[in-house]
Amino acid sequence: MVAEVINGKELSAEMKKQMRYEVENLLTQQIIPHLTVVLVGNNPASMSYVNGKKRASEEVGIQSEIIELPDSISENELLKIIHQLNQNKAVHGILVQLPLPKQINVQHIIESIDPKKDVDGFHPINIGRMMTGQDTFLPCTPYGIIKMLQSKNITIEGKHVVILGRSNIVGKPVGQLLLNENATVTYCHSKTKNLQEITKQADILVVAIGRPNVINKEYIKNGAVVIDVGINRLENGILTGDVDFDSAKEVASYITPVPRGVGPMTITMLLHNTIKAAKEIEK
Ligand code: GUN
Repeated sequence: MVAEVINGKELSAEMKKQMRYEVENLLTQQIIPHLTVVLVGNNPASMSYVNGKKRASEEVGIQSEIIELPDSISENELLKIIHQLNQNKAVHGILVQLPLPKQINVQHIIESIDPKKDVDGFHPINIGRMMTGQDTFLPCTPYGIIKMLQSKNITIEGKHVVILGRSNIVGKPVGQLLLNENATVTYCHSKTKNLQEITKQADILVVAIGRPNVINKEYIKNGAVVIDVGINRLENGILTGDVDFDSAKEVASYITPVPRGVGPMTITMLLHNTIKAAKEIEK
């Protein structure tokens, strides 16, 4: 079997076209969706992600700005800036790029963002809403993964989904979203025993561990769907996923590549959430 590639870049382009119409429609009501991205320090990967978010926002007509802050900023100073953004009526979405420097408690920052402007879907109120299946901002990467599966009419209900990785940003919420879609979900992590035995049972395998090319066909059941969330830059500058693509594609039915896979979908769902925030705040 040679897997069909789920191209996140193409799906993202289609969805952005639709969003452009939605934004034009909002403009006729004098609503300009506005996203503010806060970047602390100069982590090269974060700088690149943040610029990608700004560029994509502009493509669909969302106004966006990046607030760049020094690595040395205190938690209180950052909280003050977020408070001002919460109060600012022109701002619909607030995203604080992670990771943050050590002196800042990430959870304090996430919880300081107005849940109505939390386009990352990281605030505990929004996570709680997601867990109970209510309408809310869904975290962008997990939401993008669901859209990728749906774009190929891949059935989720009743499937055994195995997730490698349990981060708050990807692993945990993607399992919850797939559970909401009636999948049977198994979480694996660094302390999991007999990993290969478990991953071999997956109908859908989601890999989000942040280590390059570690999951090959030995971990994958024939015909499984493989979703690669990893974005790793090798020493030679090449971007690669957590999955050994060439090996995995020999046994999978569908596979997401890196680049042009989950990454572009994360940004696209951020745009979706920003438009949703603008509509709800201006209602
Ligand atoms: N860092 C890596 N991924 C993300 C994300 O989805 N949102 C934020 N805010 N920071 C990140």
